[in-house]
Amino acid sequence: MNKPTVVSGIRPTGYLHLGNYFGAVKNFVKMQYDFNCFYFIADIHSLTTHPTPGNLQAGVKQVLAEYLACGIDPEVATIFIQSDVPEVTELYTILNMNAYLGELERTTSFKDKARQQPDNVNAGLLTYPVLMAADIIIHKAHFVPVGKDQEQNLEMVRKFAKRFNRMYKKNVFPIPRPFTFDGADMLKVPGLDGSGKMGKSEGNAISLFDDPKEIRKKVMRAVTDAGPTEMNAEKPEAIQNLFTLLDIVSKPDTVAHFDGLYNKCEIRYGDLKKQLAEDIISYTSPIREKIVSILEDDAYLAKVAKMGAEKARESASKTLNEVKKVVGFNSLF
Ligand code: ADP
Ligand code: TRP
Repeated sequence: MNKPTVVSGIRPTGYLHLGNYFGAVKNFVKMQYDFNCFYFIADIHSLTTHPTPGNLQAGVKQVLAEYLACGIDPEVATIFIQSDVPEVTELYTILNMNAYLGELERTTSFKDKARQQPDNVNAGLLTYPVLMAADIIIHKAHFVPVGKDQEQNLEMVRKFAKRFNRMYKKNVFPIPRPFTFDGADMLKVPGLDGSGKMGKSEGNAISLFDDPKEIRKKVMRAVTDAGPTEMNAEKPEAIQNLFTLLDIVSKPDTVAHFDGLYNKCEIRYGDLKKQLAEDIISYTSPIREKIVSILEDDAYLAKVAKMGAEKARESASKTLNEVKKVVGFNSLF
């Protein structure tokens, strides 16, 4: 019964969108039977952007319901809320002593956030990858299913785990690796605004919770151009993004059909968008219905969170005790 261990988390900062689903949660569901999985809601991480207590609570409840609606089985995988496991923050403190200002300042996600919120460049933002390391290595994880945007953070996590092992001359932590199925590339789901990734705060996302009307409206408004002017032309980014989305949610025949029309300069973006919207809807509608019904059941949500917290704490405290001994906290008195 020695399954490899998997850890991943999502910040409760808004409704889960297609990027979160296809970049992360879909793999969470697929992995749950073959791995020893810990999936959590990163509420401590989300404090870096200063949510109100009300927003934070609502966000945590939403992601919990969304995890369950997407098909994570709380009897199989461990689903928990990060702040319910204080051992994580204790390990974070210890790891912070071996994380250096220069390397933290150079992290792209830190630089991006510092640019986005210049009035709130707090220490939590700087040490974000250290907390992420604590999340992952406290369960001695081998694999971390995340989207492409987390690649660099994960590289930092690997560095901190290696550094700890080296510093104390003990292989306490396995070195975690990003996970995708069949060696596929890490996924970056594009947004609808012509460039970049789909993100909760980018205002370019389709969420699992959007109703069909909303989805049609958002897709029809997606950025396009005047259309190709020569046969077999390379697709500009905004158009490639629509095709990437089509690739993710539609049948291969559908993608080939529109690709053919594009190459012949006969494409009508309106038709492509209509098809894309319907294919997204058939993916998200059953999930949305489940989210709605799970959100009504507070008792069930509380039970899942409590059960997950107990399992996660058991695993985390085992590692933390080992770490404390290794660093020399094993009290003599
Ligand atoms: P967001 O970036 O929307 O705020 P999070 O940072 O909480 O979402 O991301 C949670 C998970 O979803 C991570 O594994 C992240 O890599 C993945 N993810 C987020 N956006 C995308 C995207 N556009 N494409 C692929 N994966 C994504
Ligand atoms: N940093 C991740 C994000 O922004 C969320 C996260 C926090 C995470 N801790 C983690 C993901 C541990 C995987 C493993 O998306």
